[in-house]
Amino acid sequence: MVIYAIDLFCGVGGLTQGLREAGISVVAGIDIDPSCAHPFEANHPQSRFLLKSVESLSAADLHALWPSNSIRLLAGCAPCQPFSSYARNAPKDHSKWGMLFHFSRLIRDTKPEFVTMENVPGLAREAPFVDFLNTLKEGGYQVAYQTVNVADFGVPQQRKRLVLIASKLGQISLPSPTHSGSKNWLSVKDAIGKLPVLDAGEIDKNDLLHRSARLSPLNSSRIRASKPGGTWRDWPKELVAECHRKESGKHSAGVYGRMRWDQPAPTMTTLCCGFGNGRFGHPEQNRAISLREAAIFQSFPINYQFASANNLISIKRVSKLIGNAVPPKLGEAVGITLIKHFSDISSQTSTTQSKVTHRLGKSKQPL
Ligand SMILES: C[S@@+](CC[C@H](N)C(=O)[O-])C[C@H]1O[C@@H](n2cnc3c(N)ncnc32)[C@H](O)[C@@H]1O
Repeated sequence: MVIYAIDLFCGVGGLTQGLREAGISVVAGIDIDPSCAHPFEANHPQSRFLLKSVESLSAADLHALWPSNSIRLLAGCAPCQPFSSYARNAPKDHSKWGMLFHFSRLIRDTKPEFVTMENVPGLAREAPFVDFLNTLKEGGYQVAYQTVNVADFGVPQQRKRLVLIASKLGQISLPSPTHSGSKNWLSVKDAIGKLPVLDAGEIDKNDLLHRSARLSPLNSSRIRASKPGGTWRDWPKELVAECHRKESGKHSAGVYGRMRWDQPAPTMTTLCCGFGNGRFGHPEQNRAISLREAAIFQSFPINYQFASANNLISIKRVSKLIGNAVPPKLGEAVGITLIKHFSDISSQTSTTQSKVTHRLGKSKQPL
């Protein structure tokens, strides 16, 4: 039997892509951002995209999307900025915390067989997560959650994420890593080593997403002076930013860096295509990574569409969509786990049923 999913906060469809690759049928994705409509619909034509706030969704809306009497999965990755390590010292945005509340409300009101959610590790320390867990436990779900490194699941990137799966049908465990341990991780070279060479500010004529941001003359000199895996401390003094010359700027060694070929990429953020925003310099070309490279580091297929036409591709807007996504390979591992769990439960149930039928059958025989 097929599992039918609804992807709340679906974004461009990273989680949907992974669940589909595992064999789960995603009937709909829901997001409030209109720029997610094209990528979601173009890459997942069999699913519906609903441009809607999860706050205004009702149980009836979801029941109308799931086939009747189906095995249902409610999946979602609520906006995570309020819980991310970057936002630790920033004022909490309570309107975004509320999204987990709405996820819980929809679980309570629809009682799907399975639930999965992904978020930043910092969420596990926050009250909204405890409330979310309580909703699941009170609803009779078995729950497993843990912070994982997505590099252990075949994503060529270091990214720690909190993953939760819950089942109403029985005990469930988290997905087992497919690429456990640093020697099995995919590297930057494995991921983007064969992509066409590009200059800063250039667009590949065969792939409009393989485009990198322009660099100012100063940043152009800086990237030329940068070593793979190094920091701005390797630069001649005249290139170092004023703020980094001060004692207080020393914590920013992670910006203006080049990646190394032999390691996974760093965490793709919403600003991952800017050289000054992290270790987002190409290992040997004098530019920041392109949008396509960022998408590949998130484990999207190489032909995944993010915008409908050249003039709609803004590096800032698309890198935000890419950085926000659930890496499809992680979604796939979750999907495979849910399918196996369901198949194990179904075979136990049918074995039990056939034993009962067998016994009943025997007892009906004449003594
Ligand atoms: C972390 S991203 C989800 C990424 C997505 N799961 C993926 O794999 O590509 C969070 C998403 O929540 C959406 N969002 C924020 N507030 C929302 C709301 N009230 N209703 C629906 N979507 C919302 C954002 O537009 C964003 O796309």
